[in-house]
Amino acid sequence: MKLTDAEKAMLDGAQGKAKQKAMDLLVRYGEALGAERLVDVTNVASTFNAGSPAMKPYAEKGMDAVFSKFNLDSDEVVETPQVEVYTCQLIHGIDTQNAHVTGVAEEGVNRQKTAERFFGGRGVAMFNTCTPYQVGNVPVKGEHCAWMESSAVVYCNSVLGARTNTEGRESTGAASITGKIPYWGYHVPENRLGTHLVDVEVDVDSMMDWGLLGYYVGEIVEEDIPVLAGIRNVPSMIKLKHFGAASASSGGVEMYHIPGVTPEADTVEDAFGSRKPRERFKYGKAERKIAYDNLNSSAKDTAVDFVMLGCPHNTVEQVWTIARLLDGRKLSPNTQLWVFTPRALRDAAELAGYGDMIRKAGGHLMSDTCPAIGRIVPEGTKVVATDSAKQAHYLPAMLKTQTWFGTVEDCVNAALTGQWRGGLS
Ligand code: F3S
Repeated sequence: MKLTDAEKAMLDGAQGKAKQKAMDLLVRYGEALGAERLVDVTNVASTFNAGSPAMKPYAEKGMDAVFSKFNLDSDEVVETPQVEVYTCQLIHGIDTQNAHVTGVAEEGVNRQKTAERFFGGRGVAMFNTCTPYQVGNVPVKGEHCAWMESSAVVYCNSVLGARTNTEGRESTGAASITGKIPYWGYHVPENRLGTHLVDVEVDVDSMMDWGLLGYYVGEIVEEDIPVLAGIRNVPSMIKLKHFGAASASSGGVEMYHIPGVTPEADTVEDAFGSRKPRERFKYGKAERKIAYDNLNSSAKDTAVDFVMLGCPHNTVEQVWTIARLLDGRKLSPNTQLWVFTPRALRDAAELAGYGDMIRKAGGHLMSDTCPAIGRIVPEGTKVVATDSAKQAHYLPAMLKTQTWFGTVEDCVNAALTGQWRGGLS
């Protein structure tokens, strides 16, 4: 890989041991990918957590040992420098303010709090969410980034028009202190063109509709780039984050175009550049039903133990919607409700009184984690209901739960009655 003089000097240790290790990692990573050079990044979304039991032996030696091992892949412990570029903490496994609800042990919570102070002191913005774009990390079109987390990556590329591959903890750790990442994949303009044309023949309007469309499209295109033609209703940010998360979980979609909506394609022709679509398929009533049936394939018992809302993390508007649906009502004694939002938005929702409305009904307003990432559901949970295609995809495989997928109204109704009565209208 060709390096600039400044990059070579970093690799030779001119800026200290940690940056030397980081540069070595990036060069090895870039060479494995066939990248010819590095590119400057100005925005990193990574994870700097230390709460999980696997990290305990390292955390006992100090947070430098955690950073060295988990963010730089180094057995040698090096001192953690300040981050070089704007870097934020993504979602992780522990909501430190609701550990009593999730049953996370106090020692894990304390490790996580220590990590937050330590890495915050090194310049990491502690957003603790998979939707950093909701709380102040909003890269612009063309900006080179190094982000982790599939739902964040697909939003970054498709909706913001910024450029990132789906990075890992080590590569983003290295990027945070060097401001570099290998130039390949979605950093390269021609790799951002559409591959599959999707003729959308039904109205796609509600959040559930967008989840179903994303889930269906992801299964077909896998890791390629769908272009949605025929979208008549301009989707909100809530719907786009839901669509992207669904397509990234049934497939591995990291980028899509909706001509006239997303920033890199005003028209279908723009989306494909000089190329022809490699494949073309339709999304109509039958395909919508297939997606719905696939998402609900794990569920048969209608008695619901647990309702999860907020994947990807909810906007304040979504929390408000849930609070209004619950207002003055009580959850079934057999059902728990956890609502997730970014930590900064939780504060905003609390200020507005939505947290109180949710708690009065018997639910919890939470942040920093989610059931799939934290691998946490209330004890004894067998049947889950969620409005998230991503959670409906992962929970049956990860936690062996039956999982119903439906609208937010279906889910709140299940939390209030203890029964699943959702369906496809
Ligand atoms: Fe975010 Fe967890 Fe969903 S990481 S996208 S809330 S699975």
